[in-house]
Amino acid sequence: MASARSYILFLSIFSLAFALGEAQQTNSNISLEATLHPSTNPTSWLSPNGHFAFGFYPEGTGFAIGTWLVASPDNTTVIWTADRDDPPVTKDAVLNLTSEGLKLLLQHSEGRLISQLPPNTVASSASMLDSGNFVIYDSNFKVIWETFVNPTDTIMAGQVLRNGYNLVSSASETDHSSGKFQLSMQPDGNLVQYPVASAHYPQDANYASGTEGDGYLSLYLDDNGWLYLHQGNVTSNLTSGYRHGTALVYRATLGVDGIFRLYSHDLELNTEQVLKEFAEVTDPCEVQGTCGLNSYCTSANGQAVVCMCLPGFDYLDTNRTSSGCRRNITTAAGCYLSNDNMTYMSTLESVIWMVDPYGEPLSVTSKEDCGEACLKDCNCDAALFSDNTCLKLVFPLRYGKTDDSTTTFIKLSNRSAGGRPEINSRPESPSAAPIITDNFSSLIISFSSNKNK
Ligand SMILES: *[C@@H]1O[C@H](CO)[C@@H](O)[C@H](O)[C@H]1NC(C)=O
Ligand SMILES: *[C@@H]1O[C@H](CO)[C@@H](O)[C@H](O)[C@H]1NC(C)=O
Ligand SMILES: *[C@@H]1O[C@H](CO)[C@@H](O)[C@H](O)[C@H]1NC(C)=O
Ligand SMILES: *[C@@H]1O[C@H](CO)[C@@H](O)[C@H](O)[C@H]1NC(C)=O
Ligand SMILES: *[C@@H]1O[C@H](CO)[C@@H](O)[C@H](O)[C@H]1NC(C)=O
Ligand SMILES: *[C@@H]1O[C@H](CO)[C@@H](O)[C@H](O)[C@H]1NC(C)=O
Ligand SMILES: *[C@@H]1O[C@H](CO)[C@@H](O)[C@H](O)[C@H]1NC(C)=O
Ligand SMILES: *[C@@H]1O[C@H](CO)[C@@H](O)[C@H](O)[C@H]1NC(C)=O
Ligand SMILES: *[C@@H]1O[C@H](CO)[C@@H](O)[C@H](O)[C@H]1NC(C)=O
Ligand SMILES: *[C@@H]1O[C@H](CO)[C@@H](O)[C@H](O)[C@H]1NC(C)=O
Repeated sequence: MASARSYILFLSIFSLAFALGEAQQTNSNISLEATLHPSTNPTSWLSPNGHFAFGFYPEGTGFAIGTWLVASPDNTTVIWTADRDDPPVTKDAVLNLTSEGLKLLLQHSEGRLISQLPPNTVASSASMLDSGNFVIYDSNFKVIWETFVNPTDTIMAGQVLRNGYNLVSSASETDHSSGKFQLSMQPDGNLVQYPVASAHYPQDANYASGTEGDGYLSLYLDDNGWLYLHQGNVTSNLTSGYRHGTALVYRATLGVDGIFRLYSHDLELNTEQVLKEFAEVTDPCEVQGTCGLNSYCTSANGQAVVCMCLPGFDYLDTNRTSSGCRRNITTAAGCYLSNDNMTYMSTLESVIWMVDPYGEPLSVTSKEDCGEACLKDCNCDAALFSDNTCLKLVFPLRYGKTDDSTTTFIKLSNRSAGGRPEINSRPESPSAAPIITDNFSSLIISFSSNKNK
């Protein structure tokens, strides 16, 4: 406890020093030809209240351009990033407010605009507002461009996620490029969270507001932490509002883990608090899409997630094990032919998938019969056995997570393999095709402690 407190104290001093150091740059009226540099002052423009900054922030091995909340516990609450999927820029980059908008100048290249102004408009100044919105004005002080219109993963109080727009999570806490989840303010009025890499069907959703049909709703967050869907005379509350203090700032962010959370930041105490989560889960593996196709999610005590490949599959990218797995060609099974002694069913205990069978569920008396039914079916890639019911599935398998009551069978072949040492042959009867069982139970991390759904 004591160490946590001194840590917070340290961060407070650290952030205060940062705020004071930058205080001279406070400027709500940024004029044409004002420039920012990643590593020489000014690196950012601060809002008049000093709580928001727009400019270069460290990202990866370089710098990104965006807006962040200055007084946050970890000093890295980025709320918006320009061109988030572009690689970070080097320290010789220059950001210049020109009449065409914000221009990013990189060595050995033409400038690139990071703000797209409407046709026939001319920028004449800009401002980092106290709300966290960075705006560009024309000569009549009319806002012609603002960061609030195109949110990345966050909306701030006063910001709207307009109908037809999405929030997309960040790849990680330190990588603000597009991640795995999206929160869609759908044209039908429903606010839905899906894995980006999914069909966006109802069964893919991890959260839905259930407001479809209520009109062309947009998502609003107000200064009291009131989060609601609204259009015309229809309002649907997601929260009923919270205590309003002068030093409180609210934000709602689609987290790296796919959970949409409402936060309050106390800028005096320099603390942040989660007020509400959409949806609430006790185990990150409950969030579909946490692990990619043909892999399943395990987590020790609901904490760090580990994505495991199906037997006979390898990670698509060993550096990003949550991006899914592909069939290892050496184990790919073709069609089972009679007397085929090369094709076998590998078993994976205690993992359940999105149940999406291509045929009628089979009633079987043993799990071995389930594996055999799949083995002998040319179209079957995998089978799921539970409670004397057998479901035949095709790849890719999706949304795998641990579940004590199920057995998965995966059809594999060692036709082209140099041999798989752990394979045990267990023929059911002399005439039956052998069912070979790998022992994969050692891969399953015990879930007994966090299966309290
Ligand atoms: C902003 O700066 C421009 C040019 O320097 C000036 O004309 C304008 O009056 C300023 N506006 C405000 C609100 O200070
Ligand atoms: C900023 O842009 C203006 C107008 O395009 C240009 O005159 C000026 O040289 C630029 N400043 C820098 C530092 O590149
Ligand atoms: C965090 O603080 C450091 C030190 O003042 C500063 O260099 C850095 O840009 C800050 N980062 C963010 C995202 O505010
Ligand atoms: C809301 O407005 C629509 C059209 O503007 C109207 O038909 C409807 O009756 C109104 N609903 C309520 C509850 O006032
Ligand atoms: C929604 O929340 C607002 C603000 O707290 C409140 O005024 C309103 O009565 C609520 N509406 C419903 C239907 O609960
Ligand atoms: C994985 O990361 C290592 C070290 O960063 C890198 O050398 C390698 O190329 C990466 N592999 C892939 C497939 O990206
Ligand atoms: C396929 O599996 C074999 C045996 O485990 C392994 O040696 C090989 O590297 C794998 N192939 C790929 C493409 O991962
Ligand atoms: C598989 O069948 C082939 C052809 O019938 C035979 O030559 C081979 O020895 C068999 N292998 C095993 C492991 O039974
Ligand atoms: C797979 O290959 C190994 C080694 O070649 C062999 O011992 C085993 O019987 C084979 N399994 C099947 C089902 O053919
Ligand atoms: C599978 O492996 C686990 C852990 O290595 C072991 O405890 C268990 O007895 C094995 N099961 C079978 C059927 O071989």
